Amino acid sequence: MADASLLTSLFPEEVVTRALVRDVELPYGAGTMALITLDNGRDHTRPSTFGPAGLFSLRDALDAVAARVARNEISAVGVTGKPFIFAVGADLSGAPLIAARDEALAIGRLGHAVFRRLGELGVPSFAFVNGAALGGGLELALHCTYRTISSGVTAVALPECFLGLLPGWGGTYLLPHLIGPGSALKVIVENPLSQNRMLRGAQAFSLGIADAMFEPADFLAESLRWAARVLTGAAEVSRAIPAQGWDPASWDQAVAAARLFADGKLHGAAPAPYRAIDLVAAARGRTRDEGFAAEDEGLADLLLSDELRAGLYAFDLTQKRARHAAGAPDAVPARGVDPPRPPRDGIARPVTKVGVVGAGLMAAQIALLFARRLEVPVVLTDLDQARLDAGLGHVRAEVARLRERGRISADAAARLTALVTGSLTKDAFADADFVIEAVFEEMAVKQRVLAEVEAVVRPDCVLATNTSSLSVTEMASGLAHPERVAGFHFFNPVAMMPLVEVVRGATTDALSTDEGTTATALAVGTALKKNCVLVKDAPAFVVNRLLTRFLGEILAAVDEGTPIEVAEHAPDPLGLPMSPFFLLQLVGPAVALHVGETLAEAYPDRFGVSPKLRALVAAGKTVVYRPGLTVDESVAAILAGGDRPSTAEEVRERALEALAEEIRLMLDEGVVAGPEDIDLCMILGAGWPFHLGGITPYLDRSGIAEKVTGTRFHL
Ligand SMILES: NC(=O)c1ccc[n+]([C@@H]2O[C@H](COP(=O)([O-])OP(=O)(O)OC[C@H]3O[C@@H](n4cnc5c(N)ncnc54)[C@H](O)[C@@H]3O)[C@@H](O)[C@H]2O)c1
Repeated sequence: MADASLLTSLFPEEVVTRALVRDVELPYGAGTMALITLDNGRDHTRPSTFGPAGLFSLRDALDAVAARVARNEISAVGVTGKPFIFAVGADLSGAPLIAARDEALAIGRLGHAVFRRLGELGVPSFAFVNGAALGGGLELALHCTYRTISSGVTAVALPECFLGLLPGWGGTYLLPHLIGPGSALKVIVENPLSQNRMLRGAQAFSLGIADAMFEPADFLAESLRWAARVLTGAAEVSRAIPAQGWDPASWDQAVAAARLFADGKLHGAAPAPYRAIDLVAAARGRTRDEGFAAEDEGLADLLLSDELRAGLYAFDLTQKRARHAAGAPDAVPARGVDPPRPPRDGIARPVTKVGVVGAGLMAAQIALLFARRLEVPVVLTDLDQARLDAGLGHVRAEVARLRERGRISADAAARLTALVTGSLTKDAFADADFVIEAVFEEMAVKQRVLAEVEAVVRPDCVLATNTSSLSVTEMASGLAHPERVAGFHFFNPVAMMPLVEVVRGATTDALSTDEGTTATALAVGTALKKNCVLVKDAPAFVVNRLLTRFLGEILAAVDEGTPIEVAEHAPDPLGLPMSPFFLLQLVGPAVALHVGETLAEAYPDRFGVSPKLRALVAAGKTVVYRPGLTVDESVAAILAGGDRPSTAEEVRERALEALAEEIRLMLDEGVVAGPEDIDLCMILGAGWPFHLGGITPYLDRSGIAEKVTGTRFHL
């Protein structure tokens, strides 16, 4: 086993999960169980994880248990967690510090060496999964002879592949042998690559991950009773494992399906899921020792990979920076005050009523989100009754859908429907604290709307705009109080997309004694359960500017004569969530053209307007692909032509170089506080992958940042 001091010195900050053992007398004469509770001494907001010291604590506990087994003092061992948490896997805080392969190997071997004892004690072991069981936490449970799960558990998963690792403490071997290769690969590969989906207790139970499920209220007591009945033979444990073993042909089929799935998502861009699939593929014919040893090797390779570094960086951003916007008013002194005041909290104003102007695609979704999350009255307006009714109709239909799916109670549905009302005049905003406009993307229309709203609202009401590309400063310029205007840029679909770009215009909070507008906007974003990134007022802000630049280069290549089949697959090796032309279809060619024109006007040297995109819009094309993802022939005809074709590699390089240039300019302009915010925006607003770290870590490691800008984004 690895040298203890070597490993613990790698994780100096470890919050140690202790394995606390107590004896429990089981009913029905089933004997004494040594019950281990995993607890790091913190509340559920700091879940129990395993670093080396935590693993050593469990090892010591199991040593003591094993000695008692030898003395026939106990009949079983159980493992459970602290309230709400079973265990959430490896402590990743030390992973970036691992620099050598033998250290990486040692981590894998230590986990195996400790966890596997749970299956090799000579008495049955039981995992009582009372709360979140992720990664190594779930693997620990898999090493036990039996498992129970609480129906209240909301997070069961092996998320390693999402981050750039593999379930290397037994997961790739034990899970397919327990529940079959198809279900196992769903948990190991498919869910992590689907926005890191997690299983609920009932789903884990029905997949066969747990042998029994009990209600949360008396979960431990019921689990202990069940364990006693299993030990006395009164309860039978039935599993779907075929008596003759898993069928080789269907094993191979499941593996092939998982490869196809990973290829569809990643095009080979990140190694982790492929390594995990290889391990599952080989697990059928391997012994436990061979399976675990192969996991150690796989884990060691991945622990040192660039993709994992990027994944951990991205994970950290989404866990920390996403929760507290860089540059938020309580973190910086108020502007315009000399001398600067110390940081303060509490300048955000309470929001008890919300107005939404426009009842279109975005406005209706925004209205529902405010009503759901803030639970305050929301009033929608639009130009005429028909549009207003359509917007309200959308809200009601969405509420009904949430109700049908069991996502909200009948009471909540009735409350939500009552909270969102419509009015054809803006007087209804008189007592609102926060009014957001989502009308047509035209400066003059938006200016007029804001002026009309300002005429009726209170002096301290915040006016927000959902514009995707227009200048917030210019929009506010005709108002009596431009300091109360901020950008509040949602992404479509509003309920799903976690990002809001909060835009501070040049006059936002100007001359005011505090930064109440920005602070209120950020507080509202947080109350809506969105992650806010604070951005400066610059054309198209962050996500749309970068996506437009990226897409612009690909369209330019098509304009020059690159065949669409080449251009659409050019970014494949990056593993982006969708092809550029699928993105174009999602955004809508007309909207993309509009944003493109705004940016071309602002930065004519770098943004062009593609003649072929113009032609698509002029021809009224709204979709690029037909069902089955083949390019529509009439679209292909419009995109054809040109005599300077590029190769896929040339297109990709050109698009990435453009991104590097644009990001450097954005940082120089102070659009965001740092490259971390660029990455956060691309991860949360465009779904760009963790293995690229968003994008700047990838531009650094591929040498593109240095080639284009002379320096790296992260020094
Ligand atoms: N569609 C997207 O994916 C998306 C994403 C982010 C941001 N946005 C931005 O959100 C805004 C709205 O976009 P949308 O897609 O919902 O547009 P939309 O056309 O669906 O809705 C706009 C609505 O505003 C109404 N309207 C126009 N002038 C008005 C006025 N003077 N008073 C009241 N209502 C008025 C229209 O009747 C229409 O119902 C735009 O600024 C757009 O850039 C759109």
